[in-house]
Amino acid sequence: MITAIDVIQTKRDGGELSTAQINWIIENYTSGIVADEQMSALAMAIFLNGANPREIADWTAAMIASGIRMDLSGVGRATTDKHSTGGVGDKITLPLAPLVASYGVAVPQLSGRGLGHTGGTLDKLESIPGFQVGYTEKEVAAQLRDLGAVICAASKDLAPADRKLYALRDITGTVESIPLIASSIMSKKIAEGTDSLVLDVKVGSGAFMKDFDQAKTLAETMVRLGSDHDVATTALLTDMGTPLGRAVGNALEVRESIEVLSGGGPSDVVELTVELAREMLAAAGIPDADPAEALRDGRAMDTWRAMVAAQGGDNDAVLPAARHSHEIKAERDGFVSRMDAYAVGMAGWRLGAGRSRPGEDVQAGAGVEILKTVGDRVSAGDVVYRLHTDTPERMDPAIDSIAGQWDVSDVAPQERTMILDRVR
Ligand code: URA
Repeated sequence: MITAIDVIQTKRDGGELSTAQINWIIENYTSGIVADEQMSALAMAIFLNGANPREIADWTAAMIASGIRMDLSGVGRATTDKHSTGGVGDKITLPLAPLVASYGVAVPQLSGRGLGHTGGTLDKLESIPGFQVGYTEKEVAAQLRDLGAVICAASKDLAPADRKLYALRDITGTVESIPLIASSIMSKKIAEGTDSLVLDVKVGSGAFMKDFDQAKTLAETMVRLGSDHDVATTALLTDMGTPLGRAVGNALEVRESIEVLSGGGPSDVVELTVELAREMLAAAGIPDADPAEALRDGRAMDTWRAMVAAQGGDNDAVLPAARHSHEIKAERDGFVSRMDAYAVGMAGWRLGAGRSRPGEDVQAGAGVEILKTVGDRVSAGDVVYRLHTDTPERMDPAIDSIAGQWDVSDVAPQERTMILDRVR
């Protein structure tokens, strides 16, 4: 007979979990028989002692089996999706889904909410007045058939084991584990039923994996899991040492995404959007597309507006703005040579853009505008950051988070490389 204590002790002592043990623990955790305290202990044992490829494959399969598998075969288009491991200012899903869909491909973008210092796509979209993210499986399929793009919340029945476990990991210091991240992401994406998947694996201070080698192992682990389940999976390793773009926070990031869809926007956001779109389109059988063209000529914007309208959002509404702001200025002339992504993410979170417990409200207008980023020339007195919040008492903690976490130097820093590696 398998018991939770045996499973925990096996992993605690550096042993290997059997397939039967893994199936038993995931099934009984999902149904509530295994307590949160026991799963926390097991997650910490996995965090500390790791898991081998067979255990990771079994754990992922058990999490998929904990819920439904969506069937998108009736959509009538190739399906392709993207998942990011989470970063600061990472609004790429917003321009990317309509951009790829504008080529006739279906993008079933089932997304999450922010927790901790990283933002969530659903929180960003809900800053558009009226925008709805609650969809049934049938509604997802219908919008994919009609429009090609949907960005909504995953059904509660999709990998429910991950839903419970992720919330638990978030409050027990067990997020940054390759086996747990890989199985969490891939169980959801495989259960979603997409034909192909492009992973954006972030590397650097604003990412869960700070170090390149660890991020590469994570990418390889996820690509293998995808291929084992017949989801054509590739990964880009991308820089998250510096915030992405010039906006961190819900409505601020929607505004920046609309700039990108209008053919403008910060060059790093455009570059990453175009590179990920190229990968997704190639996976969907369109290898020669130039996605930058669809941003310039308005095709992607047309699909975005149709998607926002289909999801109840008001395309012409003024986006919410926070009531209070504060500027942080350069104290000397030079070049911005460092801007720590984690510090900016924490500032946004402290200003009210993120939540500290699941279910809390977020402030639509809160966040950080970056007026000068790494590589920009500044003069003393230039505004580098503008912080926004509805709650003035949140301002000082956010200022503290940024203090000392950025530098101005006499020489221009090396140009940023966004795409660090690819895994196929
Ligand atoms: N995103 C997920 O969905 N799961 C993780 O574990 C980390 C990032």
